[in-house]
Amino acid sequence: MKKMIALILALVMALSLVACGGNNNTEDDTKDYASMSLEELKAELTTVTEGKLTMSTNATFPPYEMLADDGSFEGIDVEVAGAIAEKLGLELQIDDMSFDAALLAVQGDSPKADIVMAGVTVTEDRQLVMNFSDSYATGIQVVIVKEGSDIKSIDDLEGKKIGTQMGTTGYIYCSDTPENGGYGEENVIAYDSGITAVQALVNGQVDCVVIDNEPAQAYVKANAGLSILDTEFTNEDYAIGMNKGNACLLAAVNAAMAELKADGTFQKIVDKYIPAE
Ligand code: ARG
Repeated sequence: MKKMIALILALVMALSLVACGGNNNTEDDTKDYASMSLEELKAELTTVTEGKLTMSTNATFPPYEMLADDGSFEGIDVEVAGAIAEKLGLELQIDDMSFDAALLAVQGDSPKADIVMAGVTVTEDRQLVMNFSDSYATGIQVVIVKEGSDIKSIDDLEGKKIGTQMGTTGYIYCSDTPENGGYGEENVIAYDSGITAVQALVNGQVDCVVIDNEPAQAYVKANAGLSILDTEFTNEDYAIGMNKGNACLLAAVNAAMAELKADGTFQKIVDKYIPAE
């Protein structure tokens, strides 16, 4: 009996911890933000820095986010975020950091960014720690090899050294155990960026790189002697990540994005960076 009481007490304590651990955002959880108009949402919207929409990203991921020759940010995510900020009457502020830091920046009780836009794939684990907007693009994980490599399909990856970008789905899938469809942590190297992973492939430090298709195309174009395997590794949805405690922002971003899709702005930005073949 004593044991039982102790167990129940522990449970109650754990539950109350969960209740207090939430975001101490003062906003009303019972509000149906999804049914409010953009104008109504704008009136209630709070952001990390007043008047600004702060976006965390990792600008090594063309054509979604990268540095232009003059050092400014460019790419699909950058321009779409700019258009969303404009719809919300906010000034876009971009903070460039490592990919895993960009994901963390919108999480927890004192987020440093309002949105993470970095070609972020929606995964179940990430959904536990952040809100996701409606998806705005799809991605595919692909395998980059050196021309003439003996890796001809994903069946040949076993026992090979695989390069990935730290914290990405490419790393998560590949480093999983073989029983779960991965290749084992010991065979996967996580680099700071996709660019350094590709550099390691060029230098012969890894046998292949697993990364999202669009940046893979750009890296292969920029480095002679590389090619992309035909096999698609996995299909993913990209979305904008936001803090769990800011339901108003989630609704506002979705509403702004819906307008950008309806008025053609969104497609125009995509077409600029991914010309139709
Ligand atoms: N889509 C992959 C993921 O979410 C990779 C994204 C990497 N993005 C970046 N900007 N470096 O894990």
